[in-house]
Amino acid sequence: TEVAVLVGQKTRVQQYSAKLLHGPEQTLTAIPGSFLGPVIRLQKGQKVRIHLHNQLSENTITHWHGLHVPADVDGHPMYAISSGQTFVYEFEVVNRACMAIYHPHPHEATATQVYHGLVGAMIINDEEEAALGLPSGEFEIPIVIQDKLFDSQNQLIYSPGMHGSMFGFYGNRILVNGHPEMQLEVASRAYRLRFLNGSTARIYKLAWDDGTPITVLGVDGGLLEQPENMPYVMLAPGERLDVWADFSNRSVGSQLVMRSLAFSGVVPAMGMGMMRSQAYGLPVGSDYPIFTARITQKVTDSTKLPSTLSKISRYSISDSHNPNQPVPITISEGHMQMLLNGRPHAYNDVQDNERIPLNTVQLIEIFHDQGGGHGMSGMGMGRGMGMGGMGMMGGMMAMAHPIHLHGQSFQIVSRSIDSANEGGYATVNQGFVNSGLKDTVLVMPGETVRLIKPFQDYKGLFMFHCHNLEHEDMGMMREFLVE
Ligand code: C2O
Ligand code: CU
Ligand code: CU
Repeated sequence: TEVAVLVGQKTRVQQYSAKLLHGPEQTLTAIPGSFLGPVIRLQKGQKVRIHLHNQLSENTITHWHGLHVPADVDGHPMYAISSGQTFVYEFEVVNRACMAIYHPHPHEATATQVYHGLVGAMIINDEEEAALGLPSGEFEIPIVIQDKLFDSQNQLIYSPGMHGSMFGFYGNRILVNGHPEMQLEVASRAYRLRFLNGSTARIYKLAWDDGTPITVLGVDGGLLEQPENMPYVMLAPGERLDVWADFSNRSVGSQLVMRSLAFSGVVPAMGMGMMRSQAYGLPVGSDYPIFTARITQKVTDSTKLPSTLSKISRYSISDSHNPNQPVPITISEGHMQMLLNGRPHAYNDVQDNERIPLNTVQLIEIFHDQGGGHGMSGMGMGRGMGMGGMGMMGGMMAMAHPIHLHGQSFQIVSRSIDSANEGGYATVNQGFVNSGLKDTVLVMPGETVRLIKPFQDYKGLFMFHCHNLEHEDMGMMREFLVE
């Protein structure tokens, strides 16, 4: 199956193209008319072999975002292959049912390759999920949201430059499954919508325009225990959302729009100003439509929303290796330097608190280095180094970061916000689905997030990074050595 890149209406075909070979034919479903990679469907317990042929003119390697696989098939940049080479992945699917992502992970080129089309959804099914009888086939629809910048000739542009690296690169159009102004034609029945934020930096605040709550079935790591109704849901790059959308009481001809609602606090005022001056057109946190669902057909449908979805096996803090001393992940923000644990990504640079004993469960705390993060001083820079509240740079550069950890999913234990950032936080915090298993968590400015994550089965290097892909490429990535 050819994963070719053809973006927008009149845009030229990009030179990028990559090929994924596959096993049984039915594991792949192309999204009609889309430049995205085909949906790869796998079953829990399945053994898979995937050949990645690099037909780009540059290095690449594919990562299976959300899957728990051995380190040597996790898409670490050190395994990047050059043009014309093939990488063979072999692994067993051990994840529960979920929607994962496959996307490139080469050193400093993840954002540009994702932007130009090398991203797709991977859906894992299992027996627990199958027993629920959720809408499937044409009633299960992937919704991959991306923003892209088009010029007046409708040509695709990717030119992050300094501002785009600092604050993320933002487009002026929203694409769903590769289509601008996406119209979904639906019947008056229940659907399962599988959202994936495949944007490099843009964060969405998803809501139905008529105030209908969003019925959440699951998140990154699969189904929740029971459905949850939310007024809106925040979806940051790399995050997924599984939604029950019931159109059964709607009349033919009516429509429902999914919008991204207004919110604040995720990009500093300074960054917003710069982006506006560059005519980005669609400011982050403004209100705009994502897609329209139009009811075109009356049908009778007996599909019912199950009241119980799943059983999640959870850990408690006391199961963790060091309950009193969480593994720190510090976020520091300086000029052209977004860092984790005070250091940029580098090979062979694992620090003491980035070493994790195999088969342990770890309490992890993600927090902002209040001192402002001037670089290389490393692990010593934590909270308390600042000047009461936010340091100079920290205040000016503070922004939201979707932090992603490779390997097994984690549970969110707690979130807290400092008083200086309560205002922006209040515009987003009803939109976090904290009850589900996650692999990516949006960390707002001034926010501290605690999570519990197991590190089982596989030794080796497992990355963690900001999924604002411009930040990742700038080096906002570190790795755990599981040993
Ligand atoms: Cu989706 Cu390491 O990334
Ligand atoms: Cu990942
Ligand atoms: Cu970031």
